[in-house]
Amino acid sequence: MTTPSLLILPGDGIGPEVMAEVRRVIDWYGDKRGLKFDVSEDLVGGAAYDVHGTPLHDDTMAKAQEVDAVLLGAVGGPKYDVLDFSVKPERGLLRLRKEMDLFANLRPAQCFDALADFSSLKKDVVAGLDIMIVRELTSGIYFGEPRGIFTEGNERVGINTQRYTESEIDRVARNAFELAMKRGRKLCSMEKANVMESGILWREVVTKVGEDYPEVELSHMYADAGAMQLCRWPKQFDVIVTDNLFGDLLSDAAAMLTGSLGMLPSASLGAPMENGRPKAMYEPVHGSAPDIAGQGKANPIACILSFAMALRYSFDQGAEADRLEAAINAVLEKGVRTADLLGEEGVTPVSTAGMGDAILAALDESL
Ligand code: IPM
Ligand code: MG
Repeated sequence: MTTPSLLILPGDGIGPEVMAEVRRVIDWYGDKRGLKFDVSEDLVGGAAYDVHGTPLHDDTMAKAQEVDAVLLGAVGGPKYDVLDFSVKPERGLLRLRKEMDLFANLRPAQCFDALADFSSLKKDVVAGLDIMIVRELTSGIYFGEPRGIFTEGNERVGINTQRYTESEIDRVARNAFELAMKRGRKLCSMEKANVMESGILWREVVTKVGEDYPEVELSHMYADAGAMQLCRWPKQFDVIVTDNLFGDLLSDAAAMLTGSLGMLPSASLGAPMENGRPKAMYEPVHGSAPDIAGQGKANPIACILSFAMALRYSFDQGAEADRLEAAINAVLEKGVRTADLLGEEGVTPVSTAGMGDAILAALDESL
């Protein structure tokens, strides 16, 4: 079998720092578990703009299409706020998602026991929380036409269009049902069928796909009520499937339930490639955090957990993903904390690399 290939795109802000720790974890798997990866690195976002004048060079796009998985750090920063919309760092990320056709975005919200106190919600509401949001990622209002700022009479009008085809809804729904089958067999679909035609179609198609998964308990919720229920009693959910924009909002809310955005990974998956692996990109849910960039303060856990998702979803190494997640859990149980996770008295934060050291030590102990 050929060595699986990984393209690493550290990006901007804290991206390079957290990705450096991921690379140490990747090396650990090569040395200690015989899991070798063919790793290459390239630029994305503002870092790519600085060198090439575009947030994603065509050569990088082509490489991303060829590798078995892409790992992305984060994009964006205040330095790039003044750029034209078409070359903003975020456009690089959106181009990767669109051209690789990564239509299913998996965003787990999992509360580590050691961190249950960090949530803004009561401990018993979040302790043990383990839900998965499946966000449609390549269509809907993010990409629908017409879009733009136009002139109508003597004023301007800003337009974006929510648009979903049956097949786009069908494929992301199937993905969510498959996941639900491997988890708690419960799926809640969220839209606004009460006010949006695209929501009516969404509900119809998801219901139809559900006929192929009789073991999965399917429910529907209006997305606003879903947001409320996520804050009220998140443990009622197992898998949630929703559109691009609602998924963007609901996943940020769900992330915060767990206490720290610095903890959450994500996987963006497309159709299977010739070798059977899905096209895939893995990235932390957090952004580039320019306020702390370059200071060694960032929490690398979300990015390392994104690699764990790669092990599970791209490389069929579920047991090794479990090992990595258990190592992170052990480190947190020991009280090792980066600055974003402080709260307890008398705990001194470790640096980004310090957290990496602790995770590598826990991995060694797992052998
Ligand atoms: C996310 C982000 C992106 C999005 C931005 C950076 C384009 O908020 O991944 O959730 O809106 O999808
Ligand atoms: Mg977002």
